[in-house]
Amino acid sequence: MDGNPPATPLVIASGNAGKVREFAALLADLGLEIRPQPEGLEVEETGHTFIDNARLKAVAVAQATGCWALADDSGLAVDALNGAPGVHSARYAPSDPERIERLLAELAAANQQRAAAGLAAQRSARFTAALALADPNGQLRLEVEGHCLGEILETPRGSGGFGYDPVFLLPETGLSFAEMDKATKARLGHRGRAFALLEPGLRALLQ
Ligand code: IMP
Repeated sequence: MDGNPPATPLVIASGNAGKVREFAALLADLGLEIRPQPEGLEVEETGHTFIDNARLKAVAVAQATGCWALADDSGLAVDALNGAPGVHSARYAPSDPERIERLLAELAAANQQRAAAGLAAQRSARFTAALALADPNGQLRLEVEGHCLGEILETPRGSGGFGYDPVFLLPETGLSFAEMDKATKARLGHRGRAFALLEPGLRALLQ
């Protein structure tokens, strides 16, 4: 016994290994006991916005575990595709490589149509991460949203990260998310930006 009070458990309400890894790093120095969500717990994402889905997941996981729960709903909105894949980012195709393939094919088709109409190609896109924190009674206590503006590359670059990282270029760095070290993505990426907004409230409630 070292006399310190036990660390407060916080469940990361996500089954996505890439997100859980990023949160583990972002939360590392808060002195919390980070737990994965229970195996087999699937929360249906029926919301029409990122924040709606983050709320649904945080509340469901807090109620199922009786612990504080932090949920992230995130995705990529591509301007030339009218914001697709958006809240459907995870369900756009069965695997990460297939999601990237579909995205590049649809963007190429959209830009061919733009060219036929005399318009310049458009590759701008925006990642969003909506975070919601629910307390052990399932009450929502905090919510924030972070964004990151970039461009969709014509071919994937880099081997780090997850999801659409290899095709998302952050112009000010000249790198795709998949080419960046973890600390740079945590500083400049949508999830890191959202977390920076959440952190003061998280510390006040949980430390
Ligand atoms: P959901 O929030 O579980 O619905 O899933 C979000 C989906 O958006 C993920 O499965 C990824 O495909 C994509 N996504 C969210 N954040 C990132 C990111 O940081 N990099 C790459 N893809 C992401």
